[in-house]
Amino acid sequence: MKTRVCLSDEMAVNEIRPIKVGELSVLVIRLEEGFYATQARCTHLFRSMAKGQVEDGKIRCPLHRAKFCVRTGEVKKWANFPPGVQLLNSVRKEKALKIYEVEVDDGVVYVTDRNVVA
Ligand code: FES
Repeated sequence: MKTRVCLSDEMAVNEIRPIKVGELSVLVIRLEEGFYATQARCTHLFRSMAKGQVEDGKIRCPLHRAKFCVRTGEVKKWANFPPGVQLLNSVRKEKALKIYEVEVDDGVVYVTDRNVVA
């Protein structure tokens, strides 16, 4: 399944745009060099990251501040806020985000439900 997101010039660098690809909730994120798509919910305790922050190619979860690479989904920093949340780490092991395929065709951004990493 392939879903139209927007025109490529409609998103600013570091902007996060939540969309649905069929039943799948995905975040489309624009970095300097292009567009990426990650699963919408954090792998820690499944909070939506639609209101997260993107900086230096990483998305930060708004709940416990885990950080993930937008390009690969790799965990860059696991949940570390508030103090004490690390106690959950014995049951909530680090897990990468799923990354979905993005295409830009004639100035239009599309996302598919094809998992390209993780
Ligand atoms: S839910 Fe995202 S870091 Fe805990």
